[in-house]
Amino acid sequence: MGTPRQIFVCATLGEGRCGEKGGGELFEAFREEVSRMGLSPSTVLRNACTRRHEEGPVVFIFPDDVWYTRVHTGDVPEIVERHLLRQTTA
Ligand code: FES
Repeated sequence: MGTPRQIFVCATLGEGRCGEKGGGELFEAFREEVSRMGLSPSTVLRNACTRRHEEGPVVFIFPDDVWYTRVHTGDVPEIVERHLLRQTTA
């Protein structure tokens, strides 16, 4: 079994920040998707602003060290599948 992954979603509020660009909705969509997959909702956490909101909302996957920018709720199933369901065993 690989290292447990965590999904950090930025939903920081403020003008031009991820929260204004749908970060909150995205956070809820990730939580719903992982629950639907039988995973703990605590797999999805809120991220603090990392100064990337120009490309927000941003999502960071730990420990894969992968960033996603301009993420939409429609991207959620694919990101969850890629990082949480298809974990490598190496
Ligand atoms: S508010 Fe999300 S990166 Fe700044």
